Amino acid sequence: MDAERIRRLEQIDRDHVWHPFTQMKGWMDEKPLIIERADGNWLIDVEGKRYLDGVSSLWVTVHGHRVPEIDTAVSEQLGRVAHSTLLGLASVPSIELAERLVRIAPPGLTRVFYSDSGSTAVEVALKIAYQFWQQQLGGSRKKRFVCFENAYHGDTLGSVSVGGIDLFHQVYRPLLFETLRVPSPYCYRCPLGKSYPSCETACLEPLERMLAEQADEVVAVVIEPQVQGAAGMLIQPAGFLKRVRELCDRFGVLLIADEVATGFGRTGTLFACDREGVVPDLMCVAKGITGGYLPLAATLTTERVFGGFLAEFRDKRTFFHGHTYTGNPSRARRRSPTSTCSSAPVWWARSTARPSSSPRPSRRSPSTRTSARSASAA
Ligand SMILES: Cc1ncc(COP(=O)(O)O)c(C=O)c1O
Repeated sequence: MDAERIRRLEQIDRDHVWHPFTQMKGWMDEKPLIIERADGNWLIDVEGKRYLDGVSSLWVTVHGHRVPEIDTAVSEQLGRVAHSTLLGLASVPSIELAERLVRIAPPGLTRVFYSDSGSTAVEVALKIAYQFWQQQLGGSRKKRFVCFENAYHGDTLGSVSVGGIDLFHQVYRPLLFETLRVPSPYCYRCPLGKSYPSCETACLEPLERMLAEQADEVVAVVIEPQVQGAAGMLIQPAGFLKRVRELCDRFGVLLIADEVATGFGRTGTLFACDREGVVPDLMCVAKGITGGYLPLAATLTTERVFGGFLAEFRDKRTFFHGHTYTGNPSRARRRSPTSTCSSAPVWWARSTARPSSSPRPSRRSPSTRTSARSASAA
């Protein structure tokens, strides 16, 4: 690119673009690094310099950039229709992707609600879980969410409410709904001064106590399964997630697994819940779902939760929530059972590591299972 155009782009960026999570005072004093294109795992700037995309464009490009199958499928879909709403209409790609997601998700998650980002997927989960109990128990006291210190679930106000990173969230506290907060497991610097496994996951005791005392007020426990990413990759000890699931079952609260960061192979299994054979009541996916091509997210849930919303319209059990681009066909597009566009199906097509003979419990199986699928990231 010629020097004059580069200089102009730099100036316009400084003058007009407000970058996320960025102190703009410092940014505007520096020369911005402007990406023009990409090749595989490399980003290429306007001067032709190459950078390894180590952050995979914020944990999304699970297949790298410019994957030929995905490029083709997206442009083919654009030749059909870029967008049609899911309000009152269905679309071919959103149907086919839902089927794929249900096939690869932990068994029992059979219903798919689309949205646009990890934050919206979490908002959807929070609202579904809350409304579920209100309808189930009629004016239920269940109005609070249990979340973990150091958690990050996105930047919309609901997802910030269940977040726990003060640097990001503190200033908004007056705008947020109240939550019940428990310590997050942190084996590397255990605040209890214990070590795993002799600790017998003592860090779960506050959650157990809280649920024992207040479960009748609790809608759901919200967790980033296996690893709290934005907190600095805080890894949960083996068995932790499974015990959280058991506690939710014992005390009658829902489990929301935020797989936005961990989904689609980021922790070794296709979903982090798979490692411990855990089936959450609601599971949020985004990021890797389209391999970084387009913004798409989904909140998956069970027949039990979905069934709680079925009624005559006059009974007012409808889930009144949706985004303009909910289920956008270009994002959900797939081409054929083995050649696909969105990341979940590409993952499916490419993942030879998936044992086809994996025992799969029935769709309405109990909330835990023993067979964790293993598949390596592309
Ligand atoms: C665990 C988790 N949940 C939710 C989000 C929010 O996703 P988005 O930035 O797409 O809104 C993130 C983003 O990093 C995340 O790591």
